Amino acid sequence: MMSSTTLKPTFTGPRVPVAKAGRVAPSRAAILRVRAGPYDEELIATAQKIASPGHGILAMDESNATCGKRLDSIGMENTEASRQAYRELLCTTPGLGEYISGAILFEETLYQNTTTGSTMVDELNKQGIVPGIKVDKGLVPLPNSNNESWCQGLDGLAQRTAEYYKQGARFAKWRSVISIPSGPSNLALQDCAYGLARYAAISQASGLVPIVEPEVLLDGDHDIDRTLEIAQEIWAQTFKYMADNKVMFEGILLKPSMVTPGADSSKREKPEVVADYTLKLLRRRVPPAVPGIMFLSGGQSELEATLNLNAMNQKPNPWHVSFSYARALQNSVLKTWKGQPENKQVAQEALLKRAKANSQAQRGQYDPSTESKEAGERTFEKGYVY
Ligand code: 13P
Repeated sequence: MMSSTTLKPTFTGPRVPVAKAGRVAPSRAAILRVRAGPYDEELIATAQKIASPGHGILAMDESNATCGKRLDSIGMENTEASRQAYRELLCTTPGLGEYISGAILFEETLYQNTTTGSTMVDELNKQGIVPGIKVDKGLVPLPNSNNESWCQGLDGLAQRTAEYYKQGARFAKWRSVISIPSGPSNLALQDCAYGLARYAAISQASGLVPIVEPEVLLDGDHDIDRTLEIAQEIWAQTFKYMADNKVMFEGILLKPSMVTPGADSSKREKPEVVADYTLKLLRRRVPPAVPGIMFLSGGQSELEATLNLNAMNQKPNPWHVSFSYARALQNSVLKTWKGQPENKQVAQEALLKRAKANSQAQRGQYDPSTESKEAGERTFEKGYVY
């Protein structure tokens, strides 16, 4: 078990024992023998399972308010029963486990039954999909910043993550955001990075693999170079604080935004350019110890998100480069379902189609020739909240 007295206070990597005063530093073999956390091996195994070839994450952890907006877009009332029907449709899609290795749930869904009496967690496990849980408590205004926000949820987090583990969750998500048009201020960058690092350490101590997500919002008219500059800054700070917090990098997953121009930029960039910039960011900032990079879609169209991912996987990467999309997996599902029970099967087929396309993109083998026009519709909304 890790304890502060057995760790060198200035050491910036995970879990190395301190030499007792007056003694020489431990040999490398002794360092490697140290097992600091009771969940270390399980965390590594979970992260590797999620980051397995041809697989990615289905993000279905919209808060009740955001899920309500989605349901409203197809004329459905936002009740627990309609959220249950929708989430059940997603979790019980036959064959989903072939392409999806993890599903991020909102707390309600982690504890929810399906209409046939099984639990959503059981349905995911049956398909070999690891259940995950959104653990942040959302964004609130950050005083004395440029109208930026900070992410709440650290108080009581250790108790909640322990409970979520008992309930079957094996990984977690915490989404904090960075707004380029707001500056961003160093105050916001630092707070975002520090919050993510504390959350990551707490999650690992409870056996949950943390997904680390400092989302660089698509809002703004900046070019791709500016996005790269800010993304480099936030990831530098995030890794610095994760190292300070002794987070074990082999047992985390990242959820970055792709490096693209702002949504209002007059210049659009081709997938090869987005891939080039994004991989440059990753190579400069992410150690190869990290097993998986699971991108968010951030308001890109289903097609764009898949094409960009495919472009990044044209050559081998040091990490598993994959997806953890919400909008870019669910958009066509919702439109096909329309809340009608008789559309459930075709809606599940729509989900499977997107999951398969992204699975192929994870392997760098995606062929867009069979895509519909709707797949090219952007899902971007200004000032999006999750
Ligand atoms: P989008 O893919 O819709 O950006 O959402 C992913 C997510 O989980 C954001 O936290």
